[in-house]
Amino acid sequence: MTAKFEMNQPVADLKLDRLQQGLVGSGMDRPDGKLKVTGRATYSHEWSADGRVHGVLVRSRIATGAVKDIDQAKVMEMPGVLGVYADKRFLRNPAQGTANEAPVQGVEDIYYLGQPIALVVAETFEQARHAAEILEVNYTRSDDGIFDPEANNIAVEEQDAGKVDQGDLDQAMSEAAFCVDEIYRTPGHNSAAMEPHCSIAEWDGDKLTLRGSYQMLKYNRNELADSLGIKPENVRILAHYVGGGFGSKLGIAPEAVSAAIAAKELDRPVCVTLARQQVFDMTMRRSESRQRIRLACDDTGRLSGIGHEALVSNLPDEAFAEPVTQATHFLYAGAARKMSVNLARVNRTCAGSVRAPGEAIGMQVLENAMDELAYVSGIDPVELRKRNIPEQDPEEGIPYSGRKLHEALDEGAKRFGWDKRSATPGKVREGEWLIGIGMATAARVNMLMESKARVRLEADGRAVIETDMTDIGTGTYAILTQIAGDMLGLSGDRVETRLGDTDYPEASGSGGSFGASSSGSSVFLACSEIRKKIAGKLDIEEDELVLKDGSAEVEGKTVSLVDLLAGEALEAEGHIVPGDTGDKVKQATYGAYFAEVAVNSVTGETRVRRMLGVFDAGRILNSKTATSQCYGGMVWGIGLALTEELLFDLRDGHIVNRDLAEYHVPVNLDVPQIDVHLLDERDPWASPIQSKGIGELGICGAAAAITNAMFNATGVRFRDYPATLDKVIAAI
Ligand code: MOS
Repeated sequence: MTAKFEMNQPVADLKLDRLQQGLVGSGMDRPDGKLKVTGRATYSHEWSADGRVHGVLVRSRIATGAVKDIDQAKVMEMPGVLGVYADKRFLRNPAQGTANEAPVQGVEDIYYLGQPIALVVAETFEQARHAAEILEVNYTRSDDGIFDPEANNIAVEEQDAGKVDQGDLDQAMSEAAFCVDEIYRTPGHNSAAMEPHCSIAEWDGDKLTLRGSYQMLKYNRNELADSLGIKPENVRILAHYVGGGFGSKLGIAPEAVSAAIAAKELDRPVCVTLARQQVFDMTMRRSESRQRIRLACDDTGRLSGIGHEALVSNLPDEAFAEPVTQATHFLYAGAARKMSVNLARVNRTCAGSVRAPGEAIGMQVLENAMDELAYVSGIDPVELRKRNIPEQDPEEGIPYSGRKLHEALDEGAKRFGWDKRSATPGKVREGEWLIGIGMATAARVNMLMESKARVRLEADGRAVIETDMTDIGTGTYAILTQIAGDMLGLSGDRVETRLGDTDYPEASGSGGSFGASSSGSSVFLACSEIRKKIAGKLDIEEDELVLKDGSAEVEGKTVSLVDLLAGEALEAEGHIVPGDTGDKVKQATYGAYFAEVAVNSVTGETRVRRMLGVFDAGRILNSKTATSQCYGGMVWGIGLALTEELLFDLRDGHIVNRDLAEYHVPVNLDVPQIDVHLLDERDPWASPIQSKGIGELGICGAAAAITNAMFNATGVRFRDYPATLDKVIAAI
């Protein structure tokens, strides 16, 4: 029995608010938490398989050209070495994760330094790594590589997506009482998930089982099947636990395809794990960007024009272009609007989705520019934003669904003590330290994706959820357990959530912050169907059903579900399908960041002292995991503001700092006490459970609050990210 629901109208029934179990919205502990902290949650590398051997990918040592030949003879004589594979079915890059097919790109042509060109397999990892190091590859070099996205002669492609030219921005700028016209630069970023990418491939006849670290299994299965030239039904992917993804595990990647090819040839399970340096080389980078922002306003701060024109980069033939203007389209008013994204073709590692593609760096610089406009107009930065919250979408002319931006700004200002800020920069000093306070708006588009789940209420009164959804550290195990627990009147320990297996119904996967709403809705729908069956047994309507702690309450009497089921399990499948609510209303999530920094006037060091985020993402399904997502986004915001930067060698495009010693993510000592306050809302347009995505919201502008605070501290604008101490010391 499948309960299918298409999201074509707002769902006003707040059923989750009328239930008795009280799990949804609470900070229930993760069911997987104990397994993870005690080392019993099995990540892909940790699976043992009989006769497992190890493959190590070989990286190209040239940037552009071709592989002429590979001399295997020497390594094949080395101890333990079983084979060298350089197959036409290899991928040069990961796929993007929402594709049903993966481009098969082979290993002959080389597009960037670090591209995987061969796999060496040996009995042990050490033997394979040694052989991979000395494998002799002969190249035909070409010198047509382009490594600088801002080079003069570079081919630039204007993207259709996100292009807007409305009204006359030049005129708005020339007639404005106040305006800003600045260029900002953000560097490339790496996802830096804790768990490196790993796949173990094992064949049984023509059936492939892949234990991998992936975010979107139904797509990954199709992509893998497509690249191998086999049927999707012959592929099973298992990913019960995923140690972070942030976009880098959205699509099937070279390690999975190469492991599958070698495992087939050798008829043994093959494990391919990327070393941290290979994660930097071979998985998605966030594109660096050059962004020009123009803002024009009248003497009361009301925007008359917004311009946001960006240059990003990617490899030749790659479709993805970081959509940096994504939130600029709908966030603020302003009649004249000019936005565009240009894509430069460069021979750098593949650019793709990294947490909050678009907004993470687009909101960052838009919110810098808003701070600049507030300063030149003499209007308080919080007030300036409130004055420019539009009535309806300024480009599409449609209304907004839930949007508590005004409230987030006010609540944040109150909680942070914004009124104590000195509007004049450089006024607060503690010895060598210059102290400043800054803020920024958060905004991120909201999406709902097709998703299915099966729920079975067993005769013993326990429930089991099965879906090929993943939990990439976000809390999926918890929130699905909570939804089913509330719907069926069961405590959390009576619900078992099973994820990460393509044998289960196809889910949305984890990406674009849509996982919780989409998979949560499918569980909600399945449980609604089971509730109807229970109500039928009691001869009442589902609406009248009161379930708690494994029992139904009927006319003052308590009937246990076990008795009611009388040995028969109830099962249903829920299927959510996105409809046209996304066209009828503008759906997004919002918030506000506040930061206090201390900038050392002698060393240029910046310390973030306090940080607050207030967020609106519809119904909060689990206050603890939602808060943790926001912490993570804001911690990354500290990295974007101050330290994180992929450094490319402009001679050959290779990433110079391709490990966590040289690519500086914030560590404990960099992160102050962060406060997160969630505005628990109900957005009836967004999903049947009135929730929206929160996973990426915490990063979408967070860095701007920090650099705006640095301006307040020092009077210096930092438009070239990250604001490392060498730049700070030179500027102050
Ligand atoms: Mo996300 S960058 O869609 O995992």
